[in-house]
Amino acid sequence: MDSREIRQRFLAFFERRGHVIIPSSPLVPENDPSVLFNTAGMQPLAPYLMGTPHPSGKRLANSQKCVRTQDIEEVGDKTHDTFFEMLGNWSLGDYFKEDAIKWSFEFLTSKEEGLGLDPARLYVTVFEGNDDAPRDNEAFEVWKKFIPENRVYFMSAKSNWWSPGDNGPCGPDTEMFYDITERGLGDMTKDEYMAADDRQDVVEIWNDVFMEYEKKDGKVIGKLVTKNVDTGSGLERVVMAIQGKDNVFDTDLFAPIMQKIADLSGGEINNIRSARIVADHVRTAVMMIADGVHPSNTDQGYILRRLLRRAVRYADVLGIGHNMLSDLVPIVAEKYKGVYDNVALQTDVIVKEIWEEEDKFRKTLERGIKELTHLFGSKAISGEDAFKLFSTYGFPVEMTEELAGEQGVSVDRVAFDIEFKKHQALSRAGAEQKFKGGLADGGEKTTALHTATHLMLAGLRKYLGDGVHQAGSNITEERTRFDFTYPQKVERDVLDKVEAYVNEAISKGCTVKIEQMKKEEAKAKGVEGSFWEKYPDIVNVYSIVAEDGTQYSAELCGGPHVQETGSIGTFKIVKEEASSSGIRRVKGILE
Ligand code: ALA
Repeated sequence: MDSREIRQRFLAFFERRGHVIIPSSPLVPENDPSVLFNTAGMQPLAPYLMGTPHPSGKRLANSQKCVRTQDIEEVGDKTHDTFFEMLGNWSLGDYFKEDAIKWSFEFLTSKEEGLGLDPARLYVTVFEGNDDAPRDNEAFEVWKKFIPENRVYFMSAKSNWWSPGDNGPCGPDTEMFYDITERGLGDMTKDEYMAADDRQDVVEIWNDVFMEYEKKDGKVIGKLVTKNVDTGSGLERVVMAIQGKDNVFDTDLFAPIMQKIADLSGGEINNIRSARIVADHVRTAVMMIADGVHPSNTDQGYILRRLLRRAVRYADVLGIGHNMLSDLVPIVAEKYKGVYDNVALQTDVIVKEIWEEEDKFRKTLERGIKELTHLFGSKAISGEDAFKLFSTYGFPVEMTEELAGEQGVSVDRVAFDIEFKKHQALSRAGAEQKFKGGLADGGEKTTALHTATHLMLAGLRKYLGDGVHQAGSNITEERTRFDFTYPQKVERDVLDKVEAYVNEAISKGCTVKIEQMKKEEAKAKGVEGSFWEKYPDIVNVYSIVAEDGTQYSAELCGGPHVQETGSIGTFKIVKEEASSSGIRRVKGILE
């Protein structure tokens, strides 16, 4: 069974059990500046797990594109990858533990409808209980119907409590692991099982989270209004189990990429870790660019740049010629045809971006070589200089050592390592800040700015014409940063009119209404939206209407919004500038 069939079987299995299949959200979360990328299938669904009704109902399933880069240093081993797809099914206050577990087991083991995995190779963990919630005996009792109880292990919150961050829905989980060894591990005590997990002899293939609790500032504060189920299964790992491979790079998802890397390296791969890093990083870069990320020095763009630069360095280890990373793009695009068509449709653009980024980096590398040559006059290169070559020119220290060695010059490696560790600690602290949070910021101020942003877009369209659409937005507690399509500078007098439009709606104390309607109906009614293809057939339309009947805005959205505009303050547009070609950016605040 290949990855395509596995994905399809998953969706079909849950569709037959009453789930509506929703499209994957783009990799970059909309209206959620607290995280750089979606890191789990539930992330775009967070408001619905907290109680907002979902337009497609209470049973949903999909395959969600995700990126996690915290473990970037681990890529190259058997299972780590920075881009992955998460298969998931959700119950929003509908079924709970009994059905969730039964269906997980059925899908994993059924030959007809599911994956036909061997139940004798399955191991399960459940939550052992703590001050926040009791031991999950309910899940344990359900599991006993399907697998021998000595293969169900009780574990602490460290592994079996799942939450996407410090705030939002969370709960105990039950995780399923599959034995991928050739001989089979058989019955194991808990200690033996944990050792097998450390050796990667068993891999986690599914996680059912019973989300009935809520976290605030890192603490569980109580129960949610509904008992929800959030499941997640990493497609790459499932494919590995099904295809009987002991690493993801041998599965059909990566094999053609690895083959191309072998071709580009002159027929054979001489360093497997480097090849895996190149395959992983380029694949992730392709998916990011397809979803609108561009290499830069901040946020998502920085992560993309870092992935591509790392890939260049490891391509050199493999002896791949210059500016050839982009040759991998069509191979990746082919894999996702019919699944995420935006990749194949943009192949040319993606090739160009990756080619240009590699070219740019190689030029920096060249300047680094010049810098290094100046240092050859001395007897030894200091740790500080070696580190400068690394941080400014992206020069791997191994390369510095090699080149200097040829000139009879040594490198103070000990001092370099100290510098490097200092820097790592700093950048890790930075990265953790970025990856903290985890959920749409539903704070009062952010929510108010979100509603004001809808009004502002309506105002911009009123004064600049219907050609204006949203091209991106980023809202925090302090401000809304909003990109929209418009070919030239917007003059201050127009911005003043837009401001006045927003403030008029605010002063009238408009009501914000959510209506669910068919996408076609919403389009026909002139509802504003810029990413129609990303939405399911039934959409949430938010309209802002005054008591006198004036409608100030009607827009597709996932929320959250204020219920009434009366008390949100006075809106001001404080900045207007070019964002990129054909796109303007404004910054707005509420005072
Ligand atoms: N949200 C859960 C996870 O990512 C299912 O493991």
